[in-house]
Amino acid sequence: MADGNAPIMMSVAVLGGTGKEGSALAMRWALNGYKVIIGSRTEEKAKTRVAELNEELGGEYLVGMANEDAANEGEIVVLSVPYSAHKPTIESVKEHLSGKVVVDLTVPLAPPKIMSVSVPEGKAAALEAQSYLDNGAKVVAAFQNVSAVKLKQLDKAVDCDVLVCGDDDDAKADVIKLVEAASMRGIDAGSLENSVAVEALTPVLLYINKKYKVKGAGIRITGVE
Ligand SMILES: NC(=O)c1ccc[n+]([C@@H]2O[C@H](COP(=O)([O-])OP(=O)(O)OC[C@H]3O[C@@H](n4cnc5c(N)ncnc54)[C@H](OP(=O)(O)O)[C@@H]3O)[C@@H](O)[C@H]2O)c1
Repeated sequence: MADGNAPIMMSVAVLGGTGKEGSALAMRWALNGYKVIIGSRTEEKAKTRVAELNEELGGEYLVGMANEDAANEGEIVVLSVPYSAHKPTIESVKEHLSGKVVVDLTVPLAPPKIMSVSVPEGKAAALEAQSYLDNGAKVVAAFQNVSAVKLKQLDKAVDCDVLVCGDDDDAKADVIKLVEAASMRGIDAGSLENSVAVEALTPVLLYINKKYKVKGAGIRITGVE
């Protein structure tokens, strides 16, 4: 019988979860009880990567699917692809995102100048995502300032805060729970418009990494208990 007091864990699909950032977040969420699906452009790559990640985790924590199936299955859908793949990825799964919380962690970098702020046409990747999704999907921007290098150290808490921006309070609350499940503090940082500032911080952090010869500089908000 189900324990009436047990928290109801939502299922999370990570599109592009075969990559660095998405796989590390997926592993953390799976270890904390979420049902996590790794999405890829091909089912075969998703399954191969999942086998590797499950071996690292020591159990059958993750499942792999093509992005379309993962987006259909997940109650929360995370976009974890490079900016160049952002619009095509969203368009390929749009029909499955209706009414869902969509977490966008895309940073609109303009390689090779990844240490300089690059503002996209729609001002922020997350704002662009919301403009493509006119089907009730609720885009929440988060995790853009968290390094995959730090996330991958699964036995350690990540020493940073995560700014969470969005226009729907319930959706932001769901994402703040995901931040906590990945062992960080989530800070409600206002409307989706504010993702312009959050996305723009990442090239600044990449510059700081190089300047101070560190991996994974992060941000911390002071004065908020
Ligand atoms: N890495 C970090 O430390 C970090 C930190 C904060 C935010 N981010 C942001 O998180 C997102 C993912 O970063 P990442 O480092 O994980 O990226 P990544 O490893 O380079 O790519 C993630 C996944 O995106 C898919 N992908 C790659 N190129 C694609 C293309 N041209 N078209 C369609 N899909 C493509 C691939 O999945 P399939 O081949 O399986 O489809 C790949 O495994 C980016 O927007 C990045 O700015 C990264």
